[in-house]
Amino acid sequence: MKMIMHSLLAFLLLIGAWSSQTESVQGTDEATVAPNKVLIVYLSRTNNTKAIAEIIHRQVGGKLVALELEKPYPENYRATVEQVAKENETGFLPPLRTKIDNIGQYNVVFVGFPTWGMQLPPPIKSFLRQYGGPLKGKTVIQFNTNGGHGIGSTFQTVKELCPNSNVLDGFTMRGGSERDGQLLVIEGARAKEAETAVMKWLRTINILK
Ligand SMILES: Cc1cc2nc3c(=O)[nH]c(=O)nc-3n(C[C@H](O)[C@H](O)[C@H](O)COP(=O)(O)O)c2cc1C
Repeated sequence: MKMIMHSLLAFLLLIGAWSSQTESVQGTDEATVAPNKVLIVYLSRTNNTKAIAEIIHRQVGGKLVALELEKPYPENYRATVEQVAKENETGFLPPLRTKIDNIGQYNVVFVGFPTWGMQLPPPIKSFLRQYGGPLKGKTVIQFNTNGGHGIGSTFQTVKELCPNSNVLDGFTMRGGSERDGQLLVIEGARAKEAETAVMKWLRTINILK
């Protein structure tokens, strides 16, 4: 009987040690920033970047804002690619319809965008030109989706446009490929995978405990 009790005790201790270990590996998923200090701004045409923005919003809270233009891009993909190429060439910054009230009230600003022509989309350049000043001393966190060719120069350009902010390591994952008729792909099982990857990243940059 004593032997059985001892083995049972040892077993319970083992389970206890194991469960506390998995707890520390998984974390508590508590955000380290007050939600009213967090802004999540994103640009999304076919909703892949939007899906990532919504995952971040669910985990961290804060104000979620989709960037809209005064004059939206054409629906046609090719026409959009051409317009973006011209804007990049001339440095044109498309005016934004979206206005952010008192951006200085936020300490952490997430900025999400797709890769366009291997560069940062012009509307994000507009946003950072317009609002980058008050982000001095604040934390800027970027996230990206792309058609399989990666971030290009996007992350570097954000750093250059926010020289006085603390720009943390960004998140990127493959989204759709409008060129090949692939629109929203971060849904269903892929959205679950995205959620796991986003949470892991948020813990790495200490936004989640
Ligand atoms: C105008 C335009 C240009 C694009 N250029 C690239 C590119 O250079 N490299 C790449 O990997 N994907 C490119 N893509 C694909 C998008 O980055 C990809 O589909 C992304 O997931 C779209 O995000 P969204 O669904 O949030 O709009 C481009 C898409 C568009 C509309």
